[in-house]
Amino acid sequence: MTVLATKQRLAKPFLKWAGGKGQLLYEIDCRLPPELMNGDVDTYVEPFIGGGAVFFHIAQRYKSIRHFYLFDINEDLVNCYNAIQSDVASVIADLGRLEDRYLRGDEVKRETMYYRIRDEFNCDRSPAKLIFLNKTCYNGLYRSNRKGEFNVPFGGYRNPTICDADNLIGVSEILQRAEIICSDFEECEYYSTDRTFIYFDPPYRPLSPTAGFTSYSKEDFNEKDQIRLAEFCRRINSKGAKFLLSNSDPKNEDPEDNFFENQYSCFTIDKVKATRAINCKASGRGEINELLITNHEVSKWCMTQEFGLIGGNGGKQQNGCFTHLQEASYLYGAVVSY
Ligand SMILES: C[S@@+](CC[C@H](N)C(=O)[O-])C[C@H]1O[C@@H](n2cnc3c(N)ncnc32)[C@H](O)[C@@H]1O
Repeated sequence: MTVLATKQRLAKPFLKWAGGKGQLLYEIDCRLPPELMNGDVDTYVEPFIGGGAVFFHIAQRYKSIRHFYLFDINEDLVNCYNAIQSDVASVIADLGRLEDRYLRGDEVKRETMYYRIRDEFNCDRSPAKLIFLNKTCYNGLYRSNRKGEFNVPFGGYRNPTICDADNLIGVSEILQRAEIICSDFEECEYYSTDRTFIYFDPPYRPLSPTAGFTSYSKEDFNEKDQIRLAEFCRRINSKGAKFLLSNSDPKNEDPEDNFFENQYSCFTIDKVKATRAINCKASGRGEINELLITNHEVSKWCMTQEFGLIGGNGGKQQNGCFTHLQEASYLYGAVVSY
């Protein structure tokens, strides 16, 4: 057994990130390839790292993984990971100073300081300022305009934790085993072998050409990119790499939309329930289906101890070319708070 059970505080994502997968960790854990436990898979790749909820979960539990390769196209995000990896003390010192100044001010001073730091960040792209903005901006969003300027408004939260030094130190320790690369997801092909597990969490597929949350950012991910990603999955599948891909189910809005069934017809597609976190319309919040797509046989049990060995998806097999839509209706074993 290579799964670690530990009661010490585990490191968690240091940024809130749109599409964060904290709430789906149990479902994802149940669908990891068994080879992650016996050491036959020793390389983990995450091409859309974002806040990294799944990476932090896996890196602290599956000890047979020797190499971690994390990618994202967002330069500010990758710089931040790299700064925490190489010099966490400086990040903590800078962030601690920002936190002190911010918490000393009244509401008006805090708001003024937020917009000043936002202007400074758009010139110096400081990692500590990115974390500060993430903790104090509206909803922890990252959004930029066409010039690449971060433009999220002030959040106005009463007592945000801005500098969690213990967590940043834990994150830095974990990142010592990782390489963090700023590039398009296709660059990860180089690391894809039959000893690799890849977790893909791309930006959600927009329901209409203008509906995408990232429409105004430099990181637009459009329909063509979703198709490019499906082709890429078929390519790394033929190299023997194992993968799991998550996306929102377009049938939440349009029951006739068969995009994922068509693009991923060779793989297993499961539907699981999730709570939609970011939506400006009240009707767009609430429970929705997410898709979890795999190309491998999955472990019968969720192996992570804090979930309890109560779950599992019945040892569902994937052996050939068929689409398998399955409602996951079993109970959650635990709540993980990210
Ligand atoms: C849904 S988020 C990932 C969320 C992450 N799983 C988490 O738990 O926080 C998608 C990420 O993909 C990145 N991205 C967008 N287009 C990309 C591309 N072509 N290649 C690599 N990363 C990309 C975005 O910058 C964003 O961080």
